[in-house]
Amino acid sequence: MAVHQVDEIGAYLKILEQTPVEQEVLFHDLLIGVTRFFRDPEAFKALEEQVIPKLFAGRHAGSVVRVWSPGCSTGEEAYSLAMLLAERMAVLKQGYTVQVFATDIDRRAIALARASVYPASAVADLSRRGWRGSFQSSRVVGSTASTRASATCWFFPSRI
Ligand SMILES: C[S@@+](CC[C@H](N)C(=O)[O-])C[C@H]1O[C@@H](n2cnc3c(N)ncnc32)[C@H](O)[C@@H]1O
Repeated sequence: MAVHQVDEIGAYLKILEQTPVEQEVLFHDLLIGVTRFFRDPEAFKALEEQVIPKLFAGRHAGSVVRVWSPGCSTGEEAYSLAMLLAERMAVLKQGYTVQVFATDIDRRAIALARASVYPASAVADLSRRGWRGSFQSSRVVGSTASTRASATCWFFPSRI
């Protein structure tokens, strides 16, 4: 409303009705795509220590493990999950097919997630966190001194 210099909601509604670009701008403003790798450290610590070990417990080597990241924005959360899963597999020294499905209503965010091109500073944060594996395109590889294991992320537009 400030950009259009209107102070009445009715006037702004008219602009919205007549301007598809404004609808698109408002839609993206409301979505708030803020994200980063391991954004909520406490939550990721709990996932790493309490949830992920249970995901693999009792599963035969070779079985499929699937995880869903809803509202994934540009993919950092999905890749963070994939890193933890790949690291866990490397520790277990067992092969599993690990797939992280990630969805978002914002198609532009999904396109960026698929491209998985992130600022060098964001990727540098990963090494500071102690991430030893590699991270390229949709595939994430975790490693210990003797083992490597990978997890793959799949991104789709979807509304919850
Ligand atoms: C604040 S970001 C959070 C990203 C990531 N989950 C994280 O915590 O780092 C919220 C995301 O949810 C998405 N979103 C909001 N409403 C949605 C809906 N109804 N269906 C699917 N995605 C939605 C937005 O597009 C945005 O990318």
